[in-house]
Amino acid sequence: MGFPSERPRRTRQSDAWRRLVRETRLSADAFIYPLFVVPGRAVRHPVESMPGISQLSVDEAVKEAKALAAQGVPALLLFAAPARKDAQASAARDRQGLAAQAITAIKQACPDLIVWADVCLCGATDHGHCGHVTAAGAIDNDSSVQTLAEVALNYARAGADAVAPSDMMDGRVQAIRALLDAHGHATTPIVSYAAKYASSFYGPFREAAESAPAFGDRRSYQMDPANVREALREVLLDIAEGADLVMVKPAGPYLDVIRQVRDAVRVPVVAYQVSGEFSLIKAAAARGWIDERAAVLESLTGIRRAGADLIISYFAPQVLAWLRA
Ligand code: PBG
Repeated sequence: MGFPSERPRRTRQSDAWRRLVRETRLSADAFIYPLFVVPGRAVRHPVESMPGISQLSVDEAVKEAKALAAQGVPALLLFAAPARKDAQASAARDRQGLAAQAITAIKQACPDLIVWADVCLCGATDHGHCGHVTAAGAIDNDSSVQTLAEVALNYARAGADAVAPSDMMDGRVQAIRALLDAHGHATTPIVSYAAKYASSFYGPFREAAESAPAFGDRRSYQMDPANVREALREVLLDIAEGADLVMVKPAGPYLDVIRQVRDAVRVPVVAYQVSGEFSLIKAAAARGWIDERAAVLESLTGIRRAGADLIISYFAPQVLAWLRA
C-alpha cells in the first residue's frame, strides 16, 4: 500500500475527526494540585518565581481547598514550611505541627477531597536537607528513615489520605509501612517518590517550601539525571517494600523514564510536573513568547502519552477549567 492509497491526513481534516481519533486524553480525574502551607492567619504570600501560586496559612488553605474541591480538583499534595526548623525536624513530627494542623483542617472542611501529605525533612530542618546530617556533613540514611517514618505516622494520624515520602533515603517505604501498620494505619497508602532526580527544575519550589539546602546539594540521595535502569531498580524496590503508587519526578525531561516505569510495574504511575517546568512556561507566556494554554496542554498530554496515570501539576485548576470549557 502506501501513497496514494494511504493518506493519514484523512482523519486529521477537521476538529471533529481529530477529537474522534485522539489517542491520549487528559482527564480531570487524574490531577493532583500542590499546596504550600505556612504559619500565621490570613496569609496569602505570592511565590515570586511561580506566578499564581501562593504560600497559604492554614485558614487560607482551607478556603483554597474548598474552592478547589468545588472546581472538581480531586486531590491535593500538601507541603508545609513550619517556622520552627531544627536538626530533628521536630515540627514535622509534632501532632500540633503545621502540616498536621493543615491536614486535619482541610479534611474536616473537605472530607471528599483526597489529601496526600509530602513526607520529608527538608522543610523542617535548619540545614534544609531531606535527612539527618552527620558531624562530617553527610546525610545519614538509617536515622533519617526512622524520623521519616515518625513524620509519616504523624500525618496519617492527622488524617492524610496518603503519605508521600520524597526524601529518597533507602528503605524508607518499608519503615513507613511497618510503623503505619503497627499503629492501626494499615489502610493508608504510600505514594513513593521512587524515581526522583537531582534536578535543576526544583529551583522555584525551594522558594515556596523554604527548603533549599544550606550547604551542598542533594546528589548523594536524589538520582543522577543520566540514569534510567537505576530508576527501574528504585521503583521495583519501593514496590517490594510496599509502595502503592510510584512517582517519576520531574516529568517533562524524563518522559522515557515514565514510559519504562509504566511498562515495568502494575501499580499506578504518578508524574510530577515540577515547579521549574511550570515557571518556564509561565515566564515565556508572560513575555508573549509562547501560547500558555497550548503549551500547558501539550506538556501534559506528552506526560500522559509517556504513560503517567496521574499528574501532579501546578496547572491543575487551570487545566480543569479548560477541560470543562
Ligand atoms: C522536597 C521536595 C522537593 C520537591 C518536592 N518535594 C524539592 C527538592 O527535592 O529539593 C520539588 C517540587 C517542585 O519543584 O515542584 N523533598
